[in-house]
Amino acid sequence: EKGTYPHYMLKEIDEQPFVIRNIITKYKDDNENIKLDENVRQAVLGADRIYIIAAGTSYHAGLVGKELIEKIAGIPVETHIASEFLYNMPLLSQKPLFIFISQSGETADSRGVLVNVKKLGHSTLTITNVPGSTLSREADYTLHTYAGPEIAVASTKAYTAQMAVLAIMAVDAARASGMEMNFDPLQELGIVANAMEIFTEQKDVLEQIARDYLSVSRNCFFIGRAADYHVCMEGALKLKEISYIQAEGFAGGELKHGTIALIEEGTPVIGLATQEKVHLNLRGNMKEVVARGANPCMISMEGFQEDDDNIVIPKVHDYLTPLVSVLPLQLISYYAALHRGCDVDKPRNLAKSVTVE
Ligand code: M6R
Repeated sequence: EKGTYPHYMLKEIDEQPFVIRNIITKYKDDNENIKLDENVRQAVLGADRIYIIAAGTSYHAGLVGKELIEKIAGIPVETHIASEFLYNMPLLSQKPLFIFISQSGETADSRGVLVNVKKLGHSTLTITNVPGSTLSREADYTLHTYAGPEIAVASTKAYTAQMAVLAIMAVDAARASGMEMNFDPLQELGIVANAMEIFTEQKDVLEQIARDYLSVSRNCFFIGRAADYHVCMEGALKLKEISYIQAEGFAGGELKHGTIALIEEGTPVIGLATQEKVHLNLRGNMKEVVARGANPCMISMEGFQEDDDNIVIPKVHDYLTPLVSVLPLQLISYYAALHRGCDVDKPRNLAKSVTVE
């Protein structure tokens, strides 16, 4: 039930700190260590390459998941759009593990891939919010995201939950293979949950940004680099699907190779700079669009902020910035859709579960 909330989406955005804390509890044993099914652990450790298969927002979580698993556990990962993989399968490694990320566990494109790779005899794991779902039942193993029912068509809490579970899974694999690990995901996710609350408790700033930047705009660009780029893709998808504003998430350095031609006087460009290695490069990219007339909105992280940044996210571990930086983007999309009179929870042309190919 949405209770006093005007929309499920807003309620689900607000639930994210609780979801993350719930995940910490569910994946912690009595000795404060990671609790994970031994079979899942062995499946991850036994893989010479992981193939993440997903659609939409879950695909975006998979892009972040690739970075987490590669950096933390040192296992090569490819993330694929399910509907592409289905008819255009890349060459596979000798011992692949397929990870299906799906909030609903019912996405037909992902299921198509699952059926095919099972026929080939490959190992399969589903990360889902619905343990009894088709993808969960049909895969060898399941990891539950414990986000609670997600009703709004626009996915919010499922995305952050998926990334949290991927981080835990990656660290578990790293530790089980004897790697030195000074990143404690259970502790760091607690810091993430607190950081999320800054946004759920101060929505007025984001409502104002939506009003200032997006109440009449035709289009909007989100630019970022490294993990921020993936969050930008998710921010753009959110804005598109509920506000019908043409939006694109772009790699900051790629704009000048063509897309910058679209920047006009007043075009909103939301820049995300939370990544230590590239935040200054991104600021350079923002200057390039501002020089062409863009209306810039800068989101940075504590430690890398500059005076006139619009939003500064609290400092969280570098691996986990997407879990926090997506919140302002979710809220900006929500208010943009609201101000434009759109049906936030049930956008046109869309269904919550896409059960047809
Ligand atoms: O249930 P799934 O995670 O498999 O759904 C995948 C996409 O259909 C879904 O994430 C979709 O992109 C959302 N509406 C995005 O907000």
